[in-house]
Amino acid sequence: MTTLRPSSTAIRRLRVERLGEEGEGVGRLEGVDVHVPGAFPGEEVEVRIEAVSRHHPRAHARLVSIVTPHPLRRESPCPRDVARGGRCTGCPLSGLAIDAQREAHRATLEARYGIRVDAVIGARELGYRFASKRIAFDAREGIDFGSYVRGSHRPASMEGCLVEHPRIEEAVAELRAEARARGIRAAGGVLEGVWVKTDGERVLLTLLGATPPDATLRALAGALVKSQGVHHSRRVAGSDALRGQTLERLAGIDAIEIELEGVRRATGPLGFLQPNPEVASLAYRALVAGEARGRLAFDLYAGAGVTTELLRRRFERVVPCESFPESAAALGVPPKTAEDFLREALARGDRPELVVANPPRGGMGATVTEALLSLDPSEIRVMSCSAKTLARDLAVLERRFARVSVEAFDTLPQTGHLELVAVLRRRG
Ligand SMILES: C[S@@+](CC[C@H](N)C(=O)[O-])C[C@H]1O[C@@H](n2cnc3c(N)ncnc32)[C@H](O)[C@@H]1O
Repeated sequence: MTTLRPSSTAIRRLRVERLGEEGEGVGRLEGVDVHVPGAFPGEEVEVRIEAVSRHHPRAHARLVSIVTPHPLRRESPCPRDVARGGRCTGCPLSGLAIDAQREAHRATLEARYGIRVDAVIGARELGYRFASKRIAFDAREGIDFGSYVRGSHRPASMEGCLVEHPRIEEAVAELRAEARARGIRAAGGVLEGVWVKTDGERVLLTLLGATPPDATLRALAGALVKSQGVHHSRRVAGSDALRGQTLERLAGIDAIEIELEGVRRATGPLGFLQPNPEVASLAYRALVAGEARGRLAFDLYAGAGVTTELLRRRFERVVPCESFPESAAALGVPPKTAEDFLREALARGDRPELVVANPPRGGMGATVTEALLSLDPSEIRVMSCSAKTLARDLAVLERRFARVSVEAFDTLPQTGHLELVAVLRRRG
């Protein structure tokens, strides 16, 4: 057991060794991982311990001062950032030059997860977000739209957000002004949030609320000229999820189209859109790259089916697997979990040459990775948005497969997130 204790007075010195999953700095004191938002790898800092876990060797600390700053530390370009007196905690790495952010990711992948990549591949560092979900809240000046402060339910304004695409920022600025002019408030549930997507030109804006749209909200929708489509989605009573299930068009178009690696896909008001299609395209290219051709390929967690379509150019038959009913219907298959899909494939004796998988954050897990070992394809290609679960899944797959390569993509610059693509080949 550690003797590390929270204290409002004691100041400890810490060398930051790596990034944590939320983009915070992490160093070790007395065998405990100390997580410090605002500190970067390589820095020597002074901290105050605020909480120590009773079950894990993990503590949370507040940054008091920076003894030795990272040579590429900078002032965050965003005035709303918490380090500049704002409240927004959405861009924890924005105080570090972009090349240093990517190097910190690269070094953390290797030191923490044993995942080696040559470099972290990225593109523009600002204005890259083509999809944004914001919560509504009542500020002194009127209704505003932003995000929760990390680890709390306190809202932070994102007015002038620099990482979102300028079309999205314009559409939200107009929404804010028009809603304030009409006296619309967040309290009461008429307007709880907004989901905004763009194809780079047009904007699809979905108003989210707990009640059906009233006359004021309808008039508001009609006034929004920066959004080409405005919809309303009603939150399911009792659910925390902002995204509702009912949907009503209030004005304009029903969908926008995005192209990923030459494959065009329409996205509606409630549909998933890659937040950064530019870099996601590079990741998809890496995922389906290679010369492998063959009879049969499986595309697990196929979502919108971009990879399915790309694989069909090289394989006689590509079978997608997807559990979300709407996406599965669009793919022309019954909704099925990867667990059930692989169990049935094994029972039938299917022998795909290639399996591609793009699981959600939780990764594939034991049932799916063990089934892949039994299925024994020549190649497995995995795209993952969590280094932690990818490392866990690779540990199982590497019992029979050799790791050929891993590539990392900076899909959300200024944050702790990365997209990884791993290629594995059957040994022998
Ligand atoms: C990271 S997304 C992949 C998106 C997809 N590659 C695309 O381009 O749209 C993960 C997908 O896996 C689906 N999913 C989640 N759990 C699943 C499971 N156990 N089995 C199959 N699909 C699942 C989700 O509905 C989602 O579409």
